[in-house]
Amino acid sequence: MKTSPSANELLEWYDRHARDLPWRVSPEDRRLGVVPDPYHVWLSEIMLQQTTVAAVKDYYIKFLSLWPRVEDLAAAPEEDVMKAWAGLGYYSRARNLKRCAETVADLHEGRFPETVSGLQALPGIGPYTAAAIAAIAFDQPAAVVDGNVERVMTRLYEITTPLPEAKPEIKAVMAALTPEARPGDFAQAVMDLGATLCTPKRPACSLCPWMAGCAARASGLAETLPRKAPK
Ligand code: ADE
Repeated sequence: MKTSPSANELLEWYDRHARDLPWRVSPEDRRLGVVPDPYHVWLSEIMLQQTTVAAVKDYYIKFLSLWPRVEDLAAAPEEDVMKAWAGLGYYSRARNLKRCAETVADLHEGRFPETVSGLQALPGIGPYTAAAIAAIAFDQPAAVVDGNVERVMTRLYEITTPLPEAKPEIKAVMAALTPEARPGDFAQAVMDLGATLCTPKRPACSLCPWMAGCAARASGLAETLPRKAPK
């Protein structure tokens, strides 16, 4: 019999297989009480918006060594920030990065707002980034949906409606599955599952912690999802 997928199954997998990424607090450190720095989470999520994990790593490390705190970035000459960003592309992100740092430093005493709506009011922060920061930095059970999460959810629940029409349904199933405890780890676990096992081509279903409850695995449709509306 098919079982329904649970957050715990995935979190147990994440505790063993989480990718070691420079902006993350590892599951072990999390248990020891280490909390993520909202500035680090914000910086990484802005960089990751249209750029791959592999390309972001070195830029992320460089930015933090140049500007260790949000106040340092706020005080930096815009020219220096643009220069450090060169190569990452989508340069409006860098201009908004600087404006957002100034807003947090000048209007919020250097502290990022902790709610999705407060975060979304800041320059350059849209619904995805606000949910990601709220979940990862502030432990709020916000539904975080990026491209990897869309792929995992459409397969898990066999959502055959094409994108972008399927987006509200994907957000709803992700919201229902997101746990009150460890919502940030859960969001990043779904991202890791999408990046390493639930890949666009030839997904490694036999290694997946959600295999038993995955509707598309049962029907054989996994590799065909998500569907995309013709352009
Ligand atoms: N892509 C966007 N945010 C991410 C994160 N926190 N970890 C891995 N990949 C991501």
